[in-house]
Amino acid sequence: MTGTGQKLNIRRRVGEVNSLSFCCLSPTPTSLDNRCVNMIANLFHAPVGQDEAVISCGIVASSESAGLAFKMKWQHRRKAQGLPIDKPNIVTGVNVQVCWEKFARYFEVELKEVKLSEDYYVMDPAKAVEMVDENSICVAAILGSTFTGEFEYVKLLNDLLAEKNAKTAWETPIHVDAASGGFIASMGEEYQCQ
Ligand SMILES: Cc1ncc(COP(=O)(O)O)c(C=O)c1O
Repeated sequence: MTGTGQKLNIRRRVGEVNSLSFCCLSPTPTSLDNRCVNMIANLFHAPVGQDEAVISCGIVASSESAGLAFKMKWQHRRKAQGLPIDKPNIVTGVNVQVCWEKFARYFEVELKEVKLSEDYYVMDPAKAVEMVDENSICVAAILGSTFTGEFEYVKLLNDLLAEKNAKTAWETPIHVDAASGGFIASMGEEYQCQ
């Protein structure tokens, strides 16, 4: 075995052990997850009883999983209507986190990106909704743009999309990537829609 081969093997083994210890052997990450999720639940006034606790589920690649769920939901709906399911797409701004590009590539979904303009550095809701068609599995917005940290105008996106959905019956949903800004968004109304 060459040196490089050995290194690769070791890295793979460490990866296996790490993921095993993360979820099965060490209680620390789980207890941290649980504390954070309970704080967030309180901030959002989740209906949790006095002696109840919210249970967390820490994972990696939650975005890809959410994307896959959107794709499957769209496929189920289209199949039930006897419509083709071979050309799914996702609408996002070019400023979204790289996970959406990866999701689109790995799960064979066309990535329809709203370009930014010189004085507007987040996804323009009107342009995004214009790009939505019957094959759109969702529109992915972000609270805390990857480029600038700016929050996208999710309320306007929702209003415009609801209008389009009412006209077309496409039922296109919105996913909000709040990985970086969701915690702050819970604390002030002014952050929730610019
Ligand atoms: C803004 C943002 N979105 C999405 C992700 C991806 O998260 P996950 O691995 O749970 O899909 C990250 C991870 O750092 C992130 O910072």
